Amino acid sequence: MTVTFRTSLCDLLGIEYPVIQSGMGGVAGPDLVAEVSRAGGLGILAGVQVPPEDLRGMIRRVRELTDRPFGVNLLLHSEMRPPADVAAIPEDRIRAVQTLLNRFRERLGIPPTLTRPPAVPDLVDAAIQVILGERAPVWSIGLGNPDGAIVRECHARGIKVMAMVATVEDARQVAASGVDTVVAQGSEAGGHRSTWVKRASAGRALVGTMALVPQVVDVVRVPVIAAGGLADGRGLVAALALGASGILLGTRFVATRESAAPEFWKKNLLERDGEDTTVTDVFSGLYARALRNTFSQEYAASGAPVLPWLVQRGAANDIHVASLKQGTGDYYPMWAGQGTGLIHDLPGAAEVVEAIIREARAVVADLPQRVAL
Ligand SMILES: Cc1cc2nc3c(=O)[nH]c(=O)nc-3n(C[C@H](O)[C@H](O)[C@H](O)COP(=O)(O)O)c2cc1C
Repeated sequence: MTVTFRTSLCDLLGIEYPVIQSGMGGVAGPDLVAEVSRAGGLGILAGVQVPPEDLRGMIRRVRELTDRPFGVNLLLHSEMRPPADVAAIPEDRIRAVQTLLNRFRERLGIPPTLTRPPAVPDLVDAAIQVILGERAPVWSIGLGNPDGAIVRECHARGIKVMAMVATVEDARQVAASGVDTVVAQGSEAGGHRSTWVKRASAGRALVGTMALVPQVVDVVRVPVIAAGGLADGRGLVAALALGASGILLGTRFVATRESAAPEFWKKNLLERDGEDTTVTDVFSGLYARALRNTFSQEYAASGAPVLPWLVQRGAANDIHVASLKQGTGDYYPMWAGQGTGLIHDLPGAAEVVEAIIREARAVVADLPQRVAL
């Protein structure tokens, strides 16, 4: 008997396997997305802060590559709608941040500056219009709760809506908005913590996947997707046992051939483990899990303030770009989850999907012997 792992989520999204690749800025372009979807999972395009014309082009490119369902990801954080007013940030705060950043600039051969970072463009509503206009099969949302009206508009166009939460209360709220499926993001997850208001400290909204998933399953009626620290077939079976109907993986897909992440990032994932990750706001202004590097360590130790969401990212952009050009991750945000230690190869994305299903079948086949013990 072959176990197919066909869950209610597969029927909902029209996919073969309940394996989802998360939308990831700078990582998840059309090639990665199409490859995952072609393999029977669901690939999700990174749409955050992508200008509308470019986003439309990316969606159309995925459609050229595959006729399978795929998703488009946006973040709806409260600090993005509208973005922070850079002009209103006190001068001494900007100076304190830039003074610390100048220490990194000097090492990277970049001229020092004390100027204000650029304004953050307000692109969220335009991106939503593109998703509606293109009738993307799935709209994936992080860091925010869509209102009921926009969810209904999606449904009227045949678009399924997926929202990611890090707390049980937020799961209740997105369910009340009528989303089709809820992603329960445990604290092991790479990337930003999926809350819509920045928490008071890095230690908040950090319930682990194992504890969060069944709690979310208990309060919502729609299929739940487990996320955070999952990277193989064992994770899929464990998530299903907790009541989830599928898994969403980010870090695992960063380390694939089709991922657009720079090589040094992929190499770091192969060489380091979950202990090397930290939840920090120094890269973007919001809390996110990333690999520890010189930038995150020295920034945190300096006690320098952190600017609002995306303004912080803009302030350090020249430093991240220089780090990228020099081929080193020392000053570059390398988002990664605690599952980093489970990654030992750089396969194609389709192979990741296939391996997860193959491993999960082996785990299920082996369980009766182990339970009998
Ligand atoms: C490199 C990277 C970039 C990410 N970017 C996004 C993003 O743009 N939007 C989003 O909703 N989630 C993003 N996430 C978070 C994922 O949605 C998800 O919660 C996480 O990857 C799951 O944990 P894992 O990394 O351990 O698999 C990102 C994660 C990573 C690792």
